Amino acid sequence: MEKGGVGFFDSGVGGLTVLDACLPFCRHLPIYYFGDNTHVPYGDKSREELRGYVFSAFDLFLSLGVVAAVVACNTVTALLMDELRRRYSFPIIGIEPAVMSAAQDAGEIYVLTTCATHASARFNMLLRQVKEKYPQARVRDFPCKGLADAVERTWTERVPLAKFLPAGSPNAVVLGCTHYSYLKAEISAFYGARVYDGNDGVARCLSNVLKNRDGRPLCEKTTCFRPFVTTLQVNKIVGRKIGRKKRKKHRKNDVISYKVKSSLRLYFLGEDRLFNRSFYEQMFVFKKKRW
Ligand code: DGL
Repeated sequence: MEKGGVGFFDSGVGGLTVLDACLPFCRHLPIYYFGDNTHVPYGDKSREELRGYVFSAFDLFLSLGVVAAVVACNTVTALLMDELRRRYSFPIIGIEPAVMSAAQDAGEIYVLTTCATHASARFNMLLRQVKEKYPQARVRDFPCKGLADAVERTWTERVPLAKFLPAGSPNAVVLGCTHYSYLKAEISAFYGARVYDGNDGVARCLSNVLKNRDGRPLCEKTTCFRPFVTTLQVNKIVGRKIGRKKRKKHRKNDVISYKVKSSLRLYFLGEDRLFNRSFYEQMFVFKKKRW
């Protein structure tokens, strides 16, 4: 496997929406996606429990000599960001709910998070900062227990929003969990309000980090890959399946047989790599849904 790429980590498929936003800035590099679907949902777990899962994925990123890693998970950012930055020498970008942006326009703002993020010191500090800076904004935060899990298990189709979302008529809604981004349009329609997520902010940070590096991997330590790691390479799809004839001509060993415009070196890692790859194909390649 190629080394020196960018790692993305989430508890499951939520981080793929962050990856999608970041692609324009990192698609020239190898990309590793680690979604820990075995242990999802993270939002109901303690910091102690998450530590082991997250550190083992980041050890893998370290062994791949990543030039940067993205914590594409609000829960992990809220609970473990400081520890991750102390432990690993490569740049790590986290994601936080875009409450600051939403609060610029006065009104009632609902912030939807997981239970763990809701209870975290980091998130509560963010809320205090927002309230100080924009005292006119009425910010209310809600943990949506079970919603991330519902997204993961239903492939985002027909998630019964009323079961998970608080009632009300906010002026804006902030998504504080990357799994919720799949439901951005539906949540906007549910409330009739503008919906914010942090994905573009992460993409901007990543772009700055990659611009600033001096061209060689910041992390040079390499170790053997863990036995469960084998990778899959997915090619960039330009939108339509090639015809039967063309498909026959296509190289037999291509991972997926579509017309390939430029190669995206996207590697799925971890025990659930097949699930994540297939979710990626369904959501981003076949549906071409925008978040
Ligand atoms: N997608 C993650 C987040 O942004 C975690 C969801 C979960 O696993 O509970 O918080």
